[in-house]
Formats: sequence, structure tokens, C-alpha cells
Amino acid sequence: MRKTIVEMLKRAGNDFVSGESIAGELKISRTAVWKHIQKLRENGYEILSRERCGYKLKDAPDLLLPSEIQIGLNTQLVGVEMHYKPSVNSTNYVAKALAYHGAKDGTIVVAEEQTGGKGRLERKYFSPRGKGIWFSVILRPNFLPKDAPKVTLMAAVAVAEAMNRFNLKPEIKWPNDILFDGRKLVGILTEMTGEMGKIYYIVVGIGINVNFKREDFPKEIRDTAASLSEISGGELSRVQIFRAVLEEFDKIYREVNANGFGEVFKLWRKHNVTLGKNIRVISARDGESFAGKAVDLNEDGALVVETPEGRRAVYAGDVSIR
Ligand code: BTN
Repeated sequence: MRKTIVEMLKRAGNDFVSGESIAGELKISRTAVWKHIQKLRENGYEILSRERCGYKLKDAPDLLLPSEIQIGLNTQLVGVEMHYKPSVNSTNYVAKALAYHGAKDGTIVVAEEQTGGKGRLERKYFSPRGKGIWFSVILRPNFLPKDAPKVTLMAAVAVAEAMNRFNLKPEIKWPNDILFDGRKLVGILTEMTGEMGKIYYIVVGIGINVNFKREDFPKEIRDTAASLSEISGGELSRVQIFRAVLEEFDKIYREVNANGFGEVFKLWRKHNVTLGKNIRVISARDGESFAGKAVDLNEDGALVVETPEGRRAVYAGDVSIR
């Protein structure tokens, strides 16, 4: 309902929209319209009202509300269904519960803040209000479980392509961290539910640091975390970035469903900063650590590392560039 009101106000541009026409469109009373306008104002919308003219939108908040994200969003699957939460423990938890109850392919869950943000390997993920974009996408892909690990590469590519739109040069470190100056801007956590031969659903959780100043990060991660605003040199619109990410995600996901991961690999190689570098790997399987040169990505998305003992393929682990 409120999304339609915002849509009408946006469409009118600099003109007023009468309370009567909104009431007519939504089939509600003018008093009900007034109440919705009040609610929108509480959410940060600046709406002028003038007697006998109606309402005019002066400014919209940089909140990840459906009325900001979905209107005019150019996607076919991703974000068509959207759940918005001012505060949540983890968008991945909410998305998994929704997926379990049948949520559609491409459904997203986004929060202004997470109180229990989850990182890879059971780490915590710092996700305070208003500073970043914390969201999860539910996927019901047509590929097999063996291909699921490549979804993290796909997600990294989607964010990298969106960053490109804003001239924020992305640097992907294998498998899916996006860095600035060696510090982490974006984290991706992919969880899958299925059986050996079938994926029921995948939840891809993405955290993007957008408007952090260095001192906003807790001390423990101050030297290892970065924010898009550091690259741009000023505050950025989370709404615009999020819309771009959803559009790029939708595009690459549909490409993968139609033609496989070829395009993902191509774009991943374009944006990666790992291949050709001397690296140290800590294997996720047994914590073993070894050094070598990252030489390739194999067809499974594993990192091929040249070591004095020969080539090794790393399927899961932490990589540091030396
Ligand atoms: C990592 O780099 O360790 C992965 C971090 C993933 C963070 C995102 S934020 C949205 C979604 N909800 C979570 O609790 N985690 C992911």
C-alpha cells in the first residue's frame, strides 16, 4: 500500500498528487491515506501537503525499504519478493526459515542492522544500523549440488559488477571476499539445503560495508575491514548500490541457470586479485597451512596453487596474499 503511494508520488515528480486520487487508486478513505502519509514521514520520507493540492514528495530516506528498492527495479527474479526488517539477528536465519516454508526463487531478506550477523566458519559479522547493506537471497537453482560452491563466486561477481557501475574498482580475493587496499569490503556466506542429487534451496548472505568511517569499526577489525565510502571519498547511497547489486545478481543468476557458470568464471577472472600472486592458504578442512603461487581456477571453482611439491587444488579455505 505504502509502496504504491510512494510510487504515485515519485511518478508525479514535482507535481502534487491529490489525496482523492491516491484514495481512489488504493480504494481506501482519504483519512487512511493521511495515516499512511504519516507513517511514511515517520520512516524518513519528506512529504509536503497542501490544502486542495494534495501531497508532494520532497525527499526519500536512504533506507532499504521496499518502496525505495523495488520501484523501477530491473529484475525478473531477485527482489521481486522482498522482506524488509529494521532489525534482525541474521538475514540468513530469516531467509532459511522463509525458504523452508516455500519462499520463491529470488526472494530477498534485507535488514538495516543485524544483532547476530554470521560470518563464514561460525565467525561473527559486524553489521550495525545504516552503515552497510546486509541481505540474503533465496535461490532455487536448476543446477546440481556439486555446482553449489560456485554460487559464492557468482555472488562476488554480482557485487563486483555493481561496484563497477559506480567506478568503485572491485578486487575479488578467492573465493569471494571483495577487498580495497587489502582490507575486506564485502563478505559472502552461502548455505545450502538439499539431498545428494538435488538442491532444495540455497541462501546467499551478503554483507557490504558502505558508509563506515575507520573509527566505526571495532578495534579488532579496524585494520582488516574497509568501506566503499573510503574508495569514493564520501558517503554513498545504500539504496542505489543495493539496487545495482540486485540487478547484477539477477542477470548473472539467470545466465547461470540458462548456460552454466562460464560467464561467472570470465567475470571472476576479470575482477580477481589472487591469480598470479604468491599466497598462503589455510585449508578449511583440516587447518593445514601452506604457501605457493595461485595459478588458476579449475572448472569446480577451486583455486589451483603451484607449490614446490606440485599443483594442489584448494576447495575451501582462507587465502592471504603475500
Ligand atoms: C564472511 O565473510 O565471513 C561472510 C559474511 C557474510 C555476512 C552476511 S550479512 C547478511 C547475511 N546475514 C548474515 O548473518 N551473514 C550474511
